[in-house]
Amino acid sequence: KARGVTVSYQGVPAVREVGLDLHGGQVTALMGRNGSGKSSLLWALQGSGPRTSGTVEVTPAADGKAPGDPHTMAPALARRAVGLVPQTPSDLLYLESVRQELAQADRESAVAGPGAGTARALLDRLAPGIDGATHPRDLSEGQKLALVLAIQLSAAPRVLLLDEPTRGLDYRAKTELIRIVGTLAGEGRAVVIATHDVEFVARAADRVVVMAQGDVVADGPTRDVIVASPVFAPQTAKILAPLPFLTVDQVTSALDRLATGPAGPGSGADA
Ligand SMILES: Nc1ncnc2c1ncn2[C@@H]1O[C@H](COP(=O)(O)OP(=O)(O)O)[C@@H](O)[C@H]1O
Ligand SMILES: [Mg+2]
Repeated sequence: KARGVTVSYQGVPAVREVGLDLHGGQVTALMGRNGSGKSSLLWALQGSGPRTSGTVEVTPAADGKAPGDPHTMAPALARRAVGLVPQTPSDLLYLESVRQELAQADRESAVAGPGAGTARALLDRLAPGIDGATHPRDLSEGQKLALVLAIQLSAAPRVLLLDEPTRGLDYRAKTELIRIVGTLAGEGRAVVIATHDVEFVARAADRVVVMAQGDVVADGPTRDVIVASPVFAPQTAKILAPLPFLTVDQVTSALDRLATGPAGPGSGADA
């Protein structure tokens, strides 16, 4: 729960009095032009970035602990409250091998307490088969993302923030990321993804928050927000407007329903 969050650099505001409630189980896309304040907001929510004013409150876990401000929590608790995968995931990788990074994450998560998984098991779920001896710099973009995600997830954070994670990912890796994000939301975590990738948003997000010059200028269900904007509308929506379809999958299932006859479930408005 963020209230009145402002981030200024040398007196120039990059985020202006943003209020935002994030909910467990919900995937939120954070959109907006370069420089609109997305990264600054994410780092302020996570607690290690600067916050000039305002409040941030996170309920750390379902263990009865009182909500707290990740900026002032003990590091181990903060890791369980909010995880952030930065725009350049390798910024968080500083050891000599994948194995060392995973072991380090497990040590930190052991401090973080129960509920934490092992980082290796998480990595194998995200990107199976990476040799532990590999130097992190030799991983593909998708593998680096998976490694940093595994490190963050090993603390089982309630809120997971991803800063432009689809950069450098091919279609297959994006589809995998969509599956992972869906799983995290299914576990009751709040997920926020800063991205310019409208096709990814159409497939992955429940909700879209749009920033412009530090302000939140739109916030609502994905369909309402991205179809309302010619800049954000995915190709499928542009081609089929005014029909209410965002993704090829939605069109396919509507056509399947048509094929099974007008009395089939879900026919009617969509058909
Ligand atoms: N460390 C910093 N020092 C000074 N200005 C910054 C810093 N980080 C970001 N800014 C400025 O803050 C504004 C918002 O940037 P940012 O949060 O990175 O936006 P986005 O992630 O949407 O591209 C931009 O004008 C940017 O130049
Ligand atoms: Mg950014």
